[in-house]
Amino acid sequence: MEPLRVGLCGLGTVGRGVVELLARNADRIAHQAGRGIEVVRVASRTPRPAVDLGKAVFTTQIMDVVDDPSVDVVVETMGDVAASRRLFEGAVAARKHFVTANKALIATAGGELLPQAARAGVAVGFEAAVAGGIPIVKTLREGLAGNNVQWIAGIINGTSNFILTAMASEGRSFADALADAQARGYAEADPAFDVQGIDAAHKLTILAALAFDTPLDARVVYAEGVDRLTPEDIEYAHALGYRVKHLGIARRTSDGVELRVHPTLIPEERLLAKVDGVMNAVVVNSDAVGSSLYYGPGAGAQPTASAIVSDLIDLARGNAVEAPAPRGDVCCLPMSAVETAYYLRIPSVDQPGVLAKVAQILSVNAISIEAVIQREHAVRQDAGRAWVPVIILTHRVKEAAMDAAVSAIEALDEVIDRVTRIRVEPLDDHA
Ligand SMILES: NC(=O)c1ccc[n+]([C@@H]2O[C@H](COP(=O)([O-])OP(=O)(O)OC[C@H]3O[C@@H](n4cnc5c(N)ncnc54)[C@H](OP(=O)(O)O)[C@@H]3O)[C@@H](O)[C@H]2O)c1
Repeated sequence: MEPLRVGLCGLGTVGRGVVELLARNADRIAHQAGRGIEVVRVASRTPRPAVDLGKAVFTTQIMDVVDDPSVDVVVETMGDVAASRRLFEGAVAARKHFVTANKALIATAGGELLPQAARAGVAVGFEAAVAGGIPIVKTLREGLAGNNVQWIAGIINGTSNFILTAMASEGRSFADALADAQARGYAEADPAFDVQGIDAAHKLTILAALAFDTPLDARVVYAEGVDRLTPEDIEYAHALGYRVKHLGIARRTSDGVELRVHPTLIPEERLLAKVDGVMNAVVVNSDAVGSSLYYGPGAGAQPTASAIVSDLIDLARGNAVEAPAPRGDVCCLPMSAVETAYYLRIPSVDQPGVLAKVAQILSVNAISIEAVIQREHAVRQDAGRAWVPVIILTHRVKEAAMDAAVSAIEALDEVIDRVTRIRVEPLDDHA
């Protein structure tokens, strides 16, 4: 049988990983696919003579790959969304299948692009776009296809997880932990995408589209990053029996689907609480299976190449790769309608009666308290006033009620600064 002929665009970390993996495991891959998979064309902005491209022809023009009649499938590992989109449109016009690692492309333009591909009979593979080496796209699309998924909770940004792990284990500040992540090459020079939760929101958009038929449109996801966390909050969370993790959460409720990315307190005994460093993990709770956990490296040249090659093997086998199809009757809930428990840190002057006022405000908003910590040794002096952090854990309540309560608490004379709030999730089989 003829080999599947690949045109690769982008020869950076992931692109080089794809070239190396296809060469190193060529026999195994051909056995799995039923035919060989060969890179015949490579396009990238800058030539990389040190990379062994075998017989592939190099060009600096990405459209040369689309125009090459010998290319069956275009693999995109550039990252630049505008260029990737042009490449996608070219590939669809030329009836060439398209495989990408680009979560930003799929999560922001997939709703428009995937139907175009489907109409043209072009398959789009994006296993590499979420959680690198963890085959979570296939898991949702195939392994769990017969389940109704109830919720998904994932550590899907390795940079944020590395930062949180460093803050928790070494008591470092966010800025210090970020500088370490950058020095080790885990974070970009401009880390905003990772630390503000945007990258995780893109990945959650894709997971939710597969599991809940929500639109491939990242604007429906609420995103908050790890950039405002302090080691103090992480320490209080520990004292309460929790760990702080940056989670992407998608949950089916009777009112609609919750889609949110934010730091989250989770019970220390959950497996997700033990996922440290740059590793990724996703828990899927579904009706037939219950909770299942998928853990592994969420980035890196070889793990990401593994995901791309799995898409290529699917195409070589002639497997149908269906695009997620959003359903009009599925509603995505605004954050104000999301129901969760909360951790609050309230900086208040150190005098009697403050806690009673706070409790009164929570009660008026139908918020019940689960636990309170106020440590006398935590008293600080600021501008001549003694103040103390009051820590409160609440039961579940709608975000809108918590917004109202936090505004009222911040308006108290005794509260000297903004209230810190972190959402709390039990992640048990029923939550
Ligand atoms: N790195 C990971 O671990 C990882 C994991 C999962 C998904 N991804 C995704 O994979 C994609 C690639 O990531 P990466 O880390 O491999 O990036 P990278 O190391 O920066 O490589 C990007 C490559 O694409 C080339 N390129 C960029 N824009 C181009 C354009 N307009 N025309 C031609 N070539 C262009 C770059 O050329 P130059 O050499 O001239 O810059 C470079 O060779 C991104 O979408 C990323 O989100 C990465």
